[in-house]
Amino acid sequence: MVVLGTMVVLGIETSCDETAAAVVDETSGAWHVRSNIVSSQVNIHRDWGGVVPELASRQHIRDICGVVEHALQTGGSRWSDIDVIAVTQGPGLVGSLLVGVSFAKSVALSLSRPLVPVHHLAGHIESLFLQHGAIPLPLVVLVVSGGHTALYVVRTPGAYQRVGRTRDDAAGEAYDKVAKLLGLGYPGGPIIDSLARDGNEDAIDLPVTRMTHADRNAPALKGDLDFSFSGLKTAVMRHVRQRPPTSRREVADMCASFQRVVVTTLLDRLFDAADRFEAASVGIAGGVSANSRLRMDLASRGERVGLPTYIPAISLSTDNAAMIAAAGLRNFHAGIRAGWDLNADASLEL
Ligand code: KG4
Ligand code: ZN
Repeated sequence: MVVLGTMVVLGIETSCDETAAAVVDETSGAWHVRSNIVSSQVNIHRDWGGVVPELASRQHIRDICGVVEHALQTGGSRWSDIDVIAVTQGPGLVGSLLVGVSFAKSVALSLSRPLVPVHHLAGHIESLFLQHGAIPLPLVVLVVSGGHTALYVVRTPGAYQRVGRTRDDAAGEAYDKVAKLLGLGYPGGPIIDSLARDGNEDAIDLPVTRMTHADRNAPALKGDLDFSFSGLKTAVMRHVRQRPPTSRREVADMCASFQRVVVTTLLDRLFDAADRFEAASVGIAGGVSANSRLRMDLASRGERVGLPTYIPAISLSTDNAAMIAAAGLRNFHAGIRAGWDLNADASLEL
């Protein structure tokens, strides 16, 4: 039921190792986060050095009811206040996605409310609009997470054109793998980010990969806005094997040197794309956008070239359901609805 021009959305996100639910409302076109609850499974997966899919889906089943109820309570909402249910359909771990999709279907069916499917990366992109409201378009967005590294141009709200992507590892994945081989624990991003603050970023010479050739799997695309991080990871591995760090200082130097290359590569490509597509603004979303160096350098490079820059608050950077509710609103207004046959899609394209 839509009351006085306010629409209330329940967002549900279970694509990886966070069980998340949020209540977001839209009043006169403006989005407002009423609640944003995330139950992280990181303590369960840490012992294994990465996400174990079977453990993840079982934990989502345990947590989903409590997380959704908590989101409703925190948002001061009752079940009957919810107008739309939005859920991550993919991409992600299929067993994990299925928990959210099945739960969202049950809620939508029992409340007789529309169910709206959401692409996880559209959620990350919409986190920028949720945080900042109107953004000058065209916007070039770098979506950088544990599973994805891609560049999108947004010319009109809700329409995403992919113009670059990683050919191998995602940037977050590279952080996680490098942290693992340095014996630093999981997830690697925040640990490397914090250690890098005490390191010398020029201590170790690591390669910067530039894509000049077409992608073998998509030869029609030019691909020079693509990314590749596996060479960097291998270079770190070789260096660590030849000269294992013997002190905290040497580990910090490796972290800082690795982070310098990742951040420079990401920002070079983002600003190349901004130039090519005559962007009026640039943004970064996804878990790696929580990185302190990336946030700082984005702001200073934006200032240097006179482009406004956008990044979500940390709570909207890493996986959350408020961004899924926002993308759900976008889809709802575009007339997108799921049927009761909605299925999780582990490799959904955007
Ligand atoms: O978006 P996200 O929460 O989940 C996915 O959709 O993958 O991103 C998680 C990724 C992990 O690889 C994690 O190491 C990375 O984001 N990450 C960071 C930071 N915080 C999280 N990477 C670098 N610096 C950080 N501060
Ligand atoms: Zn994500």
